[in-house]
Amino acid sequence: MPPEITINGDRLWESLMAMAEIGATAKGGVCRLAASEADKAGRELFIKWCVDAGCEIVADEIGNLFAKRAGEDTDALPVVMGSHLDSQPTGGKFDGVYGVLAGLEVIRSLNDAKLSTRAPVEVAVWMNEEGARFSPAMLGSGVFAGAFSLDYGLGRTDKDGVALKAALVQHELAGIAPVGRKLGAHFEAHIEQGPILEAEKKTIGVVTGVQGIVWFDVVIAGSECHAGPTPMEMRIDPVQKAASLLTQFFTLAREYAPHARVTVGEIHSHPSSRNTVPGKVQFSLDLRHPEPAILQTMHRKADAIVKKENLCGAPVSLEEIWHSPPVAFDENCITAVSNAAAKTGYPFKEMVSGAGHDSVYISRVAPTAMIFVPCKGGISHNEAESAEPHDLAAGCNVLLHAVLEYAGLCEI
Ligand code: HGY
Ligand code: MN
Ligand code: MN
Repeated sequence: MPPEITINGDRLWESLMAMAEIGATAKGGVCRLAASEADKAGRELFIKWCVDAGCEIVADEIGNLFAKRAGEDTDALPVVMGSHLDSQPTGGKFDGVYGVLAGLEVIRSLNDAKLSTRAPVEVAVWMNEEGARFSPAMLGSGVFAGAFSLDYGLGRTDKDGVALKAALVQHELAGIAPVGRKLGAHFEAHIEQGPILEAEKKTIGVVTGVQGIVWFDVVIAGSECHAGPTPMEMRIDPVQKAASLLTQFFTLAREYAPHARVTVGEIHSHPSSRNTVPGKVQFSLDLRHPEPAILQTMHRKADAIVKKENLCGAPVSLEEIWHSPPVAFDENCITAVSNAAAKTGYPFKEMVSGAGHDSVYISRVAPTAMIFVPCKGGISHNEAESAEPHDLAAGCNVLLHAVLEYAGLCEI
């Protein structure tokens, strides 16, 4: 059997820090919104590293990027290590990037050891995972998996009305490869983005699935009037209606604690002038729960809250814009991750992901599982996001061995 192979943790850390300089923010985070100049720069650096590692580079029509390392068996389906390079506006150095660069480190380590695999091995960079610029989230992997049509994905627009298609053309990010193809397996290494592993002093999370997510747009129509002379009882004030709605929506989180999540990340008022009662208030609503039935109940109760609030005052609309049902990953892939964690000797535990990931959609078309490592204080989607080099190296070693269980090493 070939010699025991491990990854190079220092090289992985150096690559993470070099990538973090692209779109770096003053507070130590990154801003690389999907299909932006910074996203393009990050992808170009990744492509250079992969070409240097001997990979073939392919991009598909929605801008998903693949770095391919050939296997001995050219008919074998590829084993893919995927995640994303796009970030939140005030994102951290590790969300998504870690899974992409851990995949590159696996390829670099196979090269160093002069080992070939039976099946091809690839690193995938899925387009627009965050959904921060173009909603919904996980758009590139969703189109790849057939959850959304290519036209739907390309037609999604950002806050300035720019369509993803135009942004891809502007930065030459779309390829000619059709979206969607058979994969042998998909593994994604990611920081946990929550506090569990750190609190329980576990190095590895063997991720068995992902909780369900529903996104809504809430629009409240008011009537603009003067902040001074207009008596309170004469106003059709969307902000007062929003206050009542928000209180009731957050009550759902308490009602279905401890697993329910309710988040309002975007709030906009128009015309946004301090001495004019707004004519319109819009806000986003993100509901999550690991159990489908409870998520459905939360959804139904949100509808009922809006229906009741429409009986008087400013009219409200609640539009569902995205629904990602809870997902259970592939048992064999989960076992491969557990075996790899046991083999490498890191303390590990099984867990469900609170965050959505590209693996959610890829699990529809390929056997899939994820590997979590701790991040400091469980903080993420925050410029202060941080992780320990030894934990990141551990997760990458587990990724290497889980992938080899599927790709197979060839006798040298
Ligand atoms: O929304 C999510 O959970 C992911 O970060 N896109
Ligand atoms: Mn992510
Ligand atoms: Mn994220």
